[in-house]
Amino acid sequence: MWSNLVNNAMQSMDYQGKLAIATLQLEQHVVVQIADTGQGISQDVQDRIFEPFFTTKAMGEGTGLGLSIVKNIIDKHHGRIEVESQPGHTVFRVWLPLDLASFLTKTGLTHLSMEQGA
Ligand SMILES: Nc1ncnc2c1ncn2[C@@H]1O[C@H](COP(=O)(O)OP(=O)(O)OP(=O)(O)O)[C@@H](O)[C@H]1O
Ligand SMILES: [Mg+2]
Repeated sequence: MWSNLVNNAMQSMDYQGKLAIATLQLEQHVVVQIADTGQGISQDVQDRIFEPFFTTKAMGEGTGLGLSIVKNIIDKHHGRIEVESQPGHTVFRVWLPLDLASFLTKTGLTHLSMEQGA
C-alpha cells in the first residue's frame, strides 16, 4: 500500500520534484506522511479519490483501484487516512493505532470476543 502512495506522488510530479516521507509517533498512533510537490488534487477530485475505479489517469495508466485498496487496508487496521492538497503541495497522512489492545478494550471488542469464547 505504501508503494501506491509513493507511485501516485511520483506520477503527480511527472517524476520530477520532491517526495518527502516522514514518520512520527503521536500519542497512540504512528503517523506516516507522504508529501509531493506535484500538481495537487482539486476539491472535486479529492471527494472521489477513495472510490474504486476512480482515476484521472489515461486509459491503461491507472486502474483507479490504488487508493481504495489503501483505504481498505487502513480501515482493517482501525487507522485513518487524510489528504491535504494545493497546487505544488500534497500530503497523504496515514494514522495507525499503536496499541491495538487498548483500542479493542475501548471499543468493547475484547469484551465481545471474550463473551463469544466463553
Ligand atoms: N499525490 C497525488 N497527487 C495528485 N493526484 C493524486 C495523488 N494521489 C492520488 N491522486 C489522484 O487520485 C486518483 C486515484 O488514485 P488511485 O491510486 O486510487 O488510482 P490511480 O493512481 O489513478 O490508478 P492505480 O493506482 O490503479 O495505478 C488518481 O488518478 C489521481 O487523480
Ligand atoms: Mg495509484
